[in-house]
Order: sequence, then C-alpha cells, then structure tokens
Amino acid sequence: MSEQLRAASFLDKGGTGKTTTVAHLGVALSERGNDVLLIDLAGKQADLAKNFGVWEDYRERIEAEDDWPNISTVFREQWTRIAKKIDDPLDELVYDTGEGPDLIPAHPGLDGLDTELNDIEEIEERYSRLEEFLDSYVSGYDVVLIDLPGSTNNISYNGLWAAQHVVVPVEAGPFEAQQAETLKSDLERISDRFDVDVELTMLVMNKTDQRTKLSEEFADEYSAAFDGVLAPHEVPRSQDVRNAAVEGRTLYAERGLSESAKRALEAFEENAEELERRLKA
Ligand SMILES: Nc1ncnc2c1ncn2[C@@H]1O[C@H](COP(=O)(O)OP(=O)(O)OP(=O)(O)O)[C@@H](O)[C@H]1O
Ligand SMILES: [Mg+2]
Repeated sequence: MSEQLRAASFLDKGGTGKTTTVAHLGVALSERGNDVLLIDLAGKQADLAKNFGVWEDYRERIEAEDDWPNISTVFREQWTRIAKKIDDPLDELVYDTGEGPDLIPAHPGLDGLDTELNDIEEIEERYSRLEEFLDSYVSGYDVVLIDLPGSTNNISYNGLWAAQHVVVPVEAGPFEAQQAETLKSDLERISDRFDVDVELTMLVMNKTDQRTKLSEEFADEYSAAFDGVLAPHEVPRSQDVRNAAVEGRTLYAERGLSESAKRALEAFEENAEELERRLKA
C-alpha cells in the first residue's frame, strides 16, 4: 500500500474556514476514490460532527456516557493497554459521515488534554502521541485530514507533528495576510524545534468576493508571498456554504446550488486534486 497522505487544517485564528475546508476537501478526496478519515481535534464544539449532521447522535452517546473510548483517550498514556482489550478500537471511534469520509468527532475530553500533555517533559513524547495512534491504528486509510484548534497548544502541535502538512484557509485582508506570514515563520520555528519538517502545503483564499478590487490585490499579494503554496482556486463566499453546514451537510449533498456555491464546489474539487498531488510529491 502506498503511504498514507496526511494534512492538518490550521491557523492561529478563529472562523477563517478551517472546518469547512476539511469537510469539503475530505468529501472531494473521497469522491476521487480515496478512503478518507477526518479527525476533529478542534475542541468540544465538535463542528465537524455538526457539519456532517452526526452531532445529535454523538451528543446522545456522550450524555448516556457511552462515549468511551473517544479521541481524547488515544492521547492518554494508557491507550495502548486500553486498545488491546478492545476488539476493534478504531471502530469504536469512527462515525460514518454519510458523504464518503469517516469521522472521529471531537469530544469534551479534549478540554483538559492540553494541560495534561504539558506534564510530559520530553518533547517527542508530548507531541507525537497522535502520530503514534495514526501509525498503529489508522493505517487502513489513504488520506487523513485533521481539523485543529484555532490556537497554538499541545493538541495542535500533535496534529502538526503527525500531519507535517498544513492547509490554511485565509480571508483577504491586511490583518489576515499578516497572520499567514506569522504562520509561515511559526512553522519554520516549530520545524526546528521538533526535528520534523512541518510544511505549509496549501494556502486557500476563502470567502472571496471576486468583484472587489481589494480582493484582487490581496490575491496578488498572497501569490507573491506564497509562491507555489497558494491553492489553484479561491473559494468564493457563498451563503449556501453556511446554510449547508447548519443543515449538517457539505455542498456536495446540497441541491439547487446557487452560482457562487457551484464555483465554491468547483474550487474545492480542483484544490483537492492539487492537494493530493502535493501530498504525494
Ligand atoms: N466560502 C464560504 N462562504 C460562506 N461562508 C463560509 C465559507 N467558508 C466558511 N464559511 C462559514 O464561516 C463560518 C466559519 O467557518 P469555519 O467554521 O469553517 O471556520 P473555522 O476556521 O473552522 O472556525 P473556528 O476557528 O471557530 O473553528 C461558518 O459559519 C462557515 O459556514
Ligand atoms: Mg473550526
């Protein structure tokens, strides 16, 4: 089997489209014939599960305390011992999104995890738990996409360490451009510290309004500053993206798409193809 492709969606900022990007690229890569697993590490609001309409079901399980093991369990020191006692540990964690990819939803247990991981002194031990889990239990998938918190902590470090490839949705604006720059230097710093290369693989301009001159200027600026990293297609702002998420599905499962939504879908498809190419390179 060829090597598993992995990428994490990350930016130290909320609301730029990280979850939306993971969901849509995940479905696009699945439609391209890959077995795709999405992992939500972005926090207990469990947005990926909501985006795929499986949150209600998972919440009921959490309330009924039928939520063990969960994604936070795999970070714990005892995980290997726990997993040995379970017939099919991965099967306990995974949900079917109904749109192609499988999903490991976020769990409230992620909440205290950052602090817990802090107590591990050795850097490799602290940051490589997710990688260890992926290598040992998740080998059956062609592609793993990880949705990370919009903040830098031990959990996002685990995601970056495991994926080593970062997809970054950004909006057009001076502040956002500065943040993308900061991310670039952060990843260089992290790579030095980690002794693993964490690469900025794809910067996607999201929620663009193609008609404004300003957004064109930012497109130029991004493509100059992120040569070879910028995604081939911008994802236009479309109310259908938001509506679909609220309904618990992606644009792929939405009917009667508006023109902007069609363009967004096309962009996700082209970007997914390019992401696959870059991850394989
Ligand atoms: N291209 C788009 N057009 C219109 N709305 C969009 C688009 N992309 C994302 N959105 C909407 O913007 C909001 C934020 O997107 P999303 O949740 O993906 O961002 P995020 O970076 O994951 O946020 P957080 O940091 O809170 O996890 C959501 O309501 C989403 O539906
Ligand atoms: Mg999110």
